Amino acid sequence: MKLCDIHTHILPSIDDGPDTIQETVEIIKLSSIQNVFNIVATPHKKDVNESGTIGKIQELITELRSIIVHDGLDINILLGMENHVDDKLSEDIKKGNALSINNSRFILVEMPYTTDLGDSEQNLLNVQKLGYVPVIAHPERMEIFQKDPGLLRKFVSNGMLTQITSGSLIGKFGDDAKTYAESIFIEDIGHVLSSDTHRAAGWRAPDLLQGYELLKGVLGTRKATHIVCTNPLNIINNSAVIKFR
Ligand SMILES: [Fe+2]
Repeated sequence: MKLCDIHTHILPSIDDGPDTIQETVEIIKLSSIQNVFNIVATPHKKDVNESGTIGKIQELITELRSIIVHDGLDINILLGMENHVDDKLSEDIKKGNALSINNSRFILVEMPYTTDLGDSEQNLLNVQKLGYVPVIAHPERMEIFQKDPGLLRKFVSNGMLTQITSGSLIGKFGDDAKTYAESIFIEDIGHVLSSDTHRAAGWRAPDLLQGYELLKGVLGTRKATHIVCTNPLNIINNSAVIKFR
């Protein structure tokens, strides 16, 4: 099976991902060994806007692609962004300061790390009004959804998608995140599994294959394959995502 990873921090010296391009290449090789054929670099928007530029991250993607060709790796590197949900997000999209996943209609969004919803619902609605489909990054790790799972159900029924992190299924983010991740999948409101890789070694190293194996145990092979292979591939190709409810 060809895995597709739509949430990673692999660009060097941009955010809290790797410091060097050597480590980036190491992450790519480790992902490739795990059968990942497409990997989307999703640096935090805030870091890109504050300490870099969109041009800089595009240049890094070009540089990585030539290294991949040189090293004979069979993997595709694409660009996206992890976009913090705030009242500037829709403006930033319009200005080109916030990027969707591989220029598709799907945009990776990160909710505030708080239990206060604030204007987030309206901010997400504004993004949807621009024609984008928000993909909510790791809801299983967010207190706002852990405390109110009904909110996530509501977001999904309003047309948003969810991206669960493989490390949560593995137990790297604690028992609560693991249990909630499994229940999101069992409830059929989990659409994509990604690694949210940050480093080449340690607990944030690539682990999507291990997550896929665990997800098979939760949902069976057919659904797990939709979530780790088909759906993320459809997202990068700007095609419809398979939903189970
Ligand atoms: Fe992330």
